[in-house]
Amino acid sequence: MPIIKVTEEDFKKVDLAVSRLTEYFNAGAMELRRPLTYHIKTYGCQLNESDSEKIAGYLEEMGLVETDDDKADVVFFNTCSIRENADDRLFGNLGVYKSLKKQNRKMIIAVCGCMMKVQKNIDKIKKSYPFVDLIFDPQQLHLMPILLLKSLDTRKLAVEVEDIDYIADDNRMHVARKRRFRALVPIMYGCNNFCTYCIVPFSRGRERSRDFDEIISQMKSLAKEGYKEVMLLGQNVNSYGKDLGGDKTFPDLLEACAKIEGFSRIRFMTSHPKDLSDKVIDIMARYDSIETHLHLPCQSGSDSVLKRMNRHYTREQFLRTAHLFREKIPEGSISTDIIVGFPGETEEDFEDTLSLVKECRFDSAFTFQYSKRPGTKAAEFEDQIPQEVVTERFNRLLEIQNALVFESNKNLVGKTMEVLIEGQSGTAADILTGRTKCNHLVNFTIPSELNITKTSDELEGYLGMVRITAAKPYSVEGILECLKDE
Ligand code: 5AD
Ligand code: SF4
Repeated sequence: MPIIKVTEEDFKKVDLAVSRLTEYFNAGAMELRRPLTYHIKTYGCQLNESDSEKIAGYLEEMGLVETDDDKADVVFFNTCSIRENADDRLFGNLGVYKSLKKQNRKMIIAVCGCMMKVQKNIDKIKKSYPFVDLIFDPQQLHLMPILLLKSLDTRKLAVEVEDIDYIADDNRMHVARKRRFRALVPIMYGCNNFCTYCIVPFSRGRERSRDFDEIISQMKSLAKEGYKEVMLLGQNVNSYGKDLGGDKTFPDLLEACAKIEGFSRIRFMTSHPKDLSDKVIDIMARYDSIETHLHLPCQSGSDSVLKRMNRHYTREQFLRTAHLFREKIPEGSISTDIIVGFPGETEEDFEDTLSLVKECRFDSAFTFQYSKRPGTKAAEFEDQIPQEVVTERFNRLLEIQNALVFESNKNLVGKTMEVLIEGQSGTAADILTGRTKCNHLVNFTIPSELNITKTSDELEGYLGMVRITAAKPYSVEGILECLKDE
């Protein structure tokens, strides 16, 4: 598949489309005597969230205003194809728009994201949801304005799904960030690993690393703009730079980012155990601004399953990395991804996963039931596991893992921890929420004697010292002792 860098000339064409669309939406707003609105439904991972921030950036440049209401003038579905139920959810949600679009003929509906790399899904939209206006895959995202304009000009469905992996300079795009204090920064796109269960290499294409200097200049601008938390994103961040000739590696990038002043938390995900070098752990231990949390998906604790998953590491190698992290960063935390019921998984294999989980004492885990993804190698494997066996194993895993999460939370009680404040918690107006440096979720109150006059909104992005008073199964509670930056 060719990898093509988007040129300044290409971006000029995009700019032109943006200005024509701005005129179009302005005229629509004048006619309706209100600003036109947009709504993006994002499914899946942080990379999709980052893509949605870019789509939002384009739409805001065109004069549209974001709304929580899913009956907006422009609605985007940014889809995920990792698991089967995501497909069902998209088609379930899309159905409602048939009648909505009848009521508002000018409504625009777009479907993008990983599911749009699968021809069967595109065909289904064409056949059963013909009111959709545009479809594009993640690699064509920068072309969205051109495509939207084409769809409006022709009044027909415009589709841009190609076998080209574009790489577009993120610095050239306007990104409408969801949170005032947090910036998502993709450092590379795609994946070369072809784990046998995974659809991502098919939907996101081959690995393309962004230029090192481009990323650093973006990071410096983000620091200047006041962002406190940055998340370096990639399907496998540890192979950053391999496609650029190997001069600059992920440890180089992480260290260069850590040297930029202004960030309270530098986060990164996802790390592949086969590529995570000891150097990364050393750098994490050395720089205060890097979070002390490592997301390290094990997927399974059985060597034979790992082999059939094409993961390229053994249980022993995984354990060595986990132990090294615990030794170098004792106050840190490890989270993981685990798949239960991979084809051919025996009871013994599953018990190996349980014992790995106990030995690693994961502070949190995303647990998945294996889902057959057409087009992947594992979908062709013969010994698929019956659903009742998968469910039974999954519940046993959850019981053990939930106890470990609770234990990890209990270990924080009595400590005073630095918390990056994210704002008001969803539960009550006087409770704020934030995360520790090791990524534990903290809900806390502010005692009146601290005389803090700032609202919870204004406190977003501040660092506070919070005394942890109680552990809950999935979070901890605490009391603010002081703000750090005042
Ligand atoms: N079935 C179940 N889980 C999957 N994942 C990826 N593909 C599948 C699949 N086919 C999980 C992996 C990965 C996470 C993002 O999603 O654990 O790390
Ligand atoms: Fe999928 Fe494996 Fe790539 Fe992760 S490393 S995106 S699991 S193929």
